[in-house]
Parts: sequence; structure tokens; C-alpha cells
Amino acid sequence: MSDTPDVPSRLNTGVAHNARVWNYWIGGKDNYEVDQQVGEHVAGMFPIIRAIARADRDFLGRAVRYLAAERGVRQFLDIGTGLPTVDNTHEIAQRIAPDARIVYVDNDPIVLAHARTLLTSTREGVTDYIDADVHDPAAILERATRTLDFTKPVAVMMLGILNFVLDYDKARDIVRQVLAAVPSGSFLVLTHPTFDDALGGAGQIPAMKFWNENATPPITARSGTDIAAFFDGLELLEPGLVSCSQWHADSDSPGAVPQFGAVAVKP
Ligand SMILES: C[S@@+](CC[C@H](N)C(=O)[O-])C[C@H]1O[C@@H](n2cnc3c(N)ncnc32)[C@H](O)[C@@H]1O
Repeated sequence: MSDTPDVPSRLNTGVAHNARVWNYWIGGKDNYEVDQQVGEHVAGMFPIIRAIARADRDFLGRAVRYLAAERGVRQFLDIGTGLPTVDNTHEIAQRIAPDARIVYVDNDPIVLAHARTLLTSTREGVTDYIDADVHDPAAILERATRTLDFTKPVAVMMLGILNFVLDYDKARDIVRQVLAAVPSGSFLVLTHPTFDDALGGAGQIPAMKFWNENATPPITARSGTDIAAFFDGLELLEPGLVSCSQWHADSDSPGAVPQFGAVAVKP
């Protein structure tokens, strides 16, 4: 893990930060007054946001369980980790496969400050944390090779992160670079907010405008067509690109939310 002495100087409690507001929406305690105020304001404009955040976390749980249990995945690269919560990727994966190896990546100082919670690996497995920006996939890959064996399949997890890469071509390039580094049989697990009205997404346009004027980092949503193109060259697993709440849904899953989710395999 990176050294943490610079965390206090990097923690800006005067501006709402995504990792902390996301934590607020899913009912966590690792957030400040400014995060709560902005989180409440966004929820007032776009009430389904809390259900989206929970549906996204539940999708993460179902996808990791499926990949570890049904597809034998033992390595996970979780980019845009978020603050530790009840079930983090390594806890879900290592419950099924104690030898699973997980590398977390985030660039928010609050996630770095709490990263120790992400590093409580089983004895048989490994966890690591990289303090890095998704815009620099080469640096992430270089550092991840210390923990992950890139000759064996890796599940690349990009949940709610490419929406912070505002340039679409750059976002696609990041996915291409990371997937180019992993072998055949690797997976891409992705969630992404959408403006598509089929999922009720148009309502988040004013809320995202408010976010971009009052919080950080700036965010965008995308059409289902643009999100589907992140999977070019990969094979989407059933049921394809759907509301993340409906991917391998169980009886507790809510209805559709304007957040696409999918899992694909590299052929
Ligand atoms: C919406 S949260 C999603 C958290 C988690 N993946 C989930 O699905 O619950 C997005 C996370 O991405 C991180 N993030 C935003 N921009 C980033 C960047 N440029 N580089 C790395 N992480 C970033 C934020 O700090 C935050 O923790």
C-alpha cells in the first residue's frame, strides 16, 4: 500500500467528493457534512439515486460470487473501489476461494485512508491497494503486476468509474489498454449510469448538472449504445447489458435502475 502521510493534506472536506457521497447514499458513516448536504440535494432532485447505489453494490456482489464460484476466477483488479463497505470484493471472493488475489485502485484520499480495511486478506490470498488515477492505466498495470499474475485470467472491475472519464475516446482507450494486458479467459465487469429513457435515465440530467457545479470529480452518463461499445472485442455473458439490478437478479432485486451493468469474457 502507498504511504499515507499526505492523506490529511489531500482530504478536502469543503467540497463534496464522490467516494464519500456514494458512501452516504449506501448508508455508510465515512462522509462529512458537505457530502451529506450535496447527497441530500441530489437525492431530492433524483430520488432513485440511493436505489442505484445499492443496486450497483448488489450487482458487484452477484458478479464476484458468480465469477469466483462458477468461472473459477482467482484474480480481481477493482478500479474505482469506493470506500470499504460490508461486502468488499476480496471478502466476497475469498469466502468462495480463500486463495483469491485482489488489487484495489482508487484516487480519493479518503479511500486511501480506509484502505487498511481493504487489506484484510485471508492467509492463503492477497490484497493490495494502489492509490492511482484511472486516466493512467499504464501506471495501474505496472503496479498491479506486483500482485497479480497477468498470464492467468483476471476479472477487471470498473463499476461506476468510467463515468468520471469525461472524454469518451479516452474512456474506451482505458478499457482497451487494461483488457489488452490480461489474457484470454479474463473478464470485464462494468456498471455505468445512463441517460437512456428506457431505464428512466433522463431524470438525472439536472442532478448531474448540479453535481458538476457543486462537487467533485465531474461526472457524465452515456447512452446504452456507447456503454455497449466498451465491450467491443469481448463476449457479453447472459443476460447482456441490462439494468445492473436485473443482471442475475435474485428475489430481492429491485426493478430497473438507470445504471447499466454487464460482465463479458475476453475470447
Ligand atoms: C461511484 S463510486 C463506485 C464505487 C464502487 N466501484 C461501487 O461500484 O460501489 C466511484 C469511485 O471511483 C473513484 N474515482 C473517481 N474518479 C477516479 C479516478 N480518476 N481515478 C481513480 N478512481 C476514481 C471515486 O473516488 C469513487 O471511490
